[in-house]
This record gives sequence, C-alpha cells and structure tokens, in this order.
Amino acid sequence: MKEDKVLNENNIAKESLEAQRIFSPERNAYDTYSLRPKFLSEYIGQDNIKERLKLAISASKMRGEQLDHILLAGPPGLGKTTLAVVIANELNANIHITSGPVLEKQGDLAAILTNLERGDVLFIDEIHRMNRSVEEILYSAMEDFQIDIMIGKGPAARSIRVDLQPFTLIGATTRSGLLTSPLRNRFGMIFEMSFYAEEELGLIITRAAQVMGVTIEPEAALLIARRSRGTPRIAIRLLKRVRDLSTVKGSQIIDTGTVNEVMNLLGIDEYGLDEMDRKLLKVIIEVYKGGPVGLKALAASLGITEDTIAEVYEPFLVQSGFLARTARGRMVTEKTYKYFGINTLGGLFGDY
Ligand SMILES: Nc1ncnc2c1ncn2[C@@H]1O[C@H](COP(=O)(O)OP(=O)(O)O)[C@@H](O)[C@H]1O
Ligand SMILES: [Mg+2]
Repeated sequence: MKEDKVLNENNIAKESLEAQRIFSPERNAYDTYSLRPKFLSEYIGQDNIKERLKLAISASKMRGEQLDHILLAGPPGLGKTTLAVVIANELNANIHITSGPVLEKQGDLAAILTNLERGDVLFIDEIHRMNRSVEEILYSAMEDFQIDIMIGKGPAARSIRVDLQPFTLIGATTRSGLLTSPLRNRFGMIFEMSFYAEEELGLIITRAAQVMGVTIEPEAALLIARRSRGTPRIAIRLLKRVRDLSTVKGSQIIDTGTVNEVMNLLGIDEYGLDEMDRKLLKVIIEVYKGGPVGLKALAASLGITEDTIAEVYEPFLVQSGFLARTARGRMVTEKTYKYFGINTLGGLFGDY
C-alpha cells in the first residue's frame, strides 16, 4: 500500500495500524483508542443495522464466502468509521483505511487494491468525493475482483487485467445522495445511520467517562446526552469540556451543575442548538421571510459552505423539526417561530 495515501482517519493512526499488524497477535485491537467500541456487542445503538450485519456476517462465515460490500451513510460523528473497524474485527480481518479525496489517480487506488490480501476489508471514507476516473476502476474491483490497468503511454499503451484477492469494501458517506448510481448499485448492503436516542447517548457518555477515569452522575450524563444532537462524537466532545471544568473545580464527580455551567459557556441550549444553528434559523426568518431559500443563498448569507450546512447543521435541524426541506428550498417551521418566541399569527416580525 502506498504509505502516503493511507489516511490518518480521526484517531486511528497509520502507525498503530502498521505496528499492531506486526506486533499484536490480536488483529485490530485498538487498545490505545479504547473510546471506540471494538465489537458489535459493545457498539451502542443502531440496532437494526447491527441485526442485519450480524446475520450477514454469520451467513458469510458459514458459507465461507466474502462478506458483501457495505455502504454506511449518515451525518458526521454517528459512528461510521467506528462501525467499519468493528465489522473488520468481527470478520477477524485486516482493515485498510483511506478516503475518497486522497485517491487522486487510478494508480493510487490500484496500488491499494492489488496489495489487499484474501478477506481484507478496505474502508474508503467520504467515498462520494472520489474522482470519477478512480471510481471507475472500483466497479470491476467490486464486482469481479479484477481491475484493468493501463501500462505505458501513447501508442505503446496497453491495458492489462489484474486479479485481486476477494475483499469487502466498506464505503462511508455523509451525502448518500451524491453517490453515482453505478457505485451505489455495487454495494450489497446500504445502511442509513440514524441519530441516537438520549438513553443510548447516555450509555456512550457513561462508558466514555469510565474510560477517561471520571465519575459522572446519571442525570448529568443524560443532560449532556440531551444536548448532543443525537451524535456520539458531540456527546464525547461535550463530556471532555465538562470534565475540564470539573477538574478545575476540583470536584470528584461530574454533576448537573457543572454540565449546565459548561453548556451556558458554550452557548448550547436545551435542544442542543448552538450559536450557528440559531444564526442559520434567524437568517431564514429575517432575510428570507421564513423561506423557502436555496442552499447557495443560505451559505452566502452565513459565510459557510453549502457542504457544511448540508452535512453538519441541516440533518439535525430537520430531524428535530426546526427546518423543513422542500422542493423549493429550506423553510423554518412553526416550532422555530415558537422557539424564538415569535407569534406567527399576530405581528410576524415582532420583537425577538
Ligand atoms: N455506537 C457507538 N457506541 C459508542 N461510541 C460510539 C458509537 N458511535 C460512535 N462512537 C464514538 O463517537 C466518535 C465518532 O465516531 P466515528 O466513527 O468517528 O463517526 P463517523 O465516522 O460517522 O464520523 C468516536 O469517538 C466513537 O468512539
Ligand atoms: Mg469517520
């Protein structure tokens, strides 16, 4: 595998992948990253996906066949990368991690594919951002475990067919809608990840606190959970900030008072909305009379990219009923007006 094309995804450092392959008899045991669950039984939530995965993994093991390719889709921080590693662990297979934007040329992907060993898992993050020519060699790789590589240039160029070892591709995307249909169709399983319930996030927070060596009151864990936008990564990030204050205050146990203090400091309200969420909703109300407004205009008004709105802010705002997506654009809802204390029947743009 071409070293410089291996992505340092989140906490999974390239070094650790290489090192543990050489030194550790237990494959993919990410001891230093114990915040990430290693097996399906430790992976909290996403019950339906877990069920379907368990079935598929058992069946493939019983038949001695390679597990079908899997697409994991959903907003950032919902556990796609974590789940990919968990799947590899369940298969007792090596995982190779890369990402769409890193694979610039066909040769980059070809180098990785031809180095895969029988049964390996290849994880491609942000697979919707792979360039089209690279994507094309993935088609035959996924379908027939074969690729055609061009050798040489100009009139002397010829194409040779290379057989690959059977492997499982796991693709992750924050925008399943942006995937081309030839690519999408080659996945045997497509899993749309959902936001986590408060109780699930509470468990994740409590478990993370244990790993960090701090004690947290159950109500305090739930309070963080409620403000984490249904997202484990946010829950863990908030827990870390709360732990900071708790440390500085010299308290032994994280309580609700400390959580509230931190939330006020960070400007996160009881719905989990932060400054940017409120700004986004307010712009739609004040500048676009409640909508509908297109993504492009909204991005320009807010000074952030369309991708950031679509991937980071919008999914949760839609899920929690503050924003509606219509054919003509984004609109705020009755709930949004109530949230800002605006009476939509009386003075629409009253004092708020
Ligand atoms: N189901 C889960 N159970 C426990 N922790 C989780 C779960 N899903 C995600 N996490 C934690 O949340 C963080 C973000 O997960 P990650 O897999 O990086 O998300 P994504 O790849 O979807 O952006 C990680 O630190 C991971 O440990
Ligand atoms: Mg990820």
